[in-house]
Amino acid sequence: MADDRQGIFAAEDPFALLRNWLEEAGRSEPNDPVAMALATVDATGLPNVRTVLLKGIADGGLTFYTNYQSRKAGELDNSGKAAVLFHWKSLRRQVRARGTVSRQDPAASDAYFASRDLGSRLGAWASQQSRPLQDRATLEARVAEMAARFGENPPRPPHWGGYVLRPDCLEFWADGANRLHDRFEWVRDGDSWRVTRLNP
Ligand SMILES: Cc1cc2nc3c(=O)[nH]c(=O)nc-3n(C[C@H](O)[C@H](O)[C@H](O)COP(=O)(O)O)c2cc1C
Repeated sequence: MADDRQGIFAAEDPFALLRNWLEEAGRSEPNDPVAMALATVDATGLPNVRTVLLKGIADGGLTFYTNYQSRKAGELDNSGKAAVLFHWKSLRRQVRARGTVSRQDPAASDAYFASRDLGSRLGAWASQQSRPLQDRATLEARVAEMAARFGENPPRPPHWGGYVLRPDCLEFWADGANRLHDRFEWVRDGDSWRVTRLNP
């Protein structure tokens, strides 16, 4: 290694490193170790951030699922860019990643949708995410309506699916004594990665 990475920072590529940290977080976090803050910008450049769950790491991309008519989807589709952040309080570590984002291949979204429990599949049909809702009863009535319509096998709704974020930059941060934290930035450089230690 051209840098002084070792211990928890040692890995061949940033996705292997992220997997290692997620595995550790899975053992120590009270819940949702895969929760990440997803940042987007709206058409005026105003940032927006909310939590989503990371559901896959493959082929240099991070996958999450959502409603394609939600506020975030509009912002993702318009800008084609996003950033995510994990903060594991139990580990005192942070990972951030930024890059381009696109909708997942529909067949892959179909496969993931089919793996979800029935309640979540019906919920995806029932929720008009991010649009106004009159009251809770209206939402529950929509779930009942979808259950009557689709039974046990709802197909993936056309308005629901995955996005894949392909980061060209990831940063791994771990808490150090006296705020002398360790930070390593991985920047895509053609087919490989350039790693730089940053000041805390
Ligand atoms: C722990 C946690 C996990 C969440 N996971 C997801 C998710 O995977 N997909 C999703 O669409 N919303 C998820 N949400 C809800 C979002 O944070 C957000 O409220 C919703 O997607 C609407 O965002 P938008 O109006 O910016 O589109 C999650 C919220 C929390 C607190």
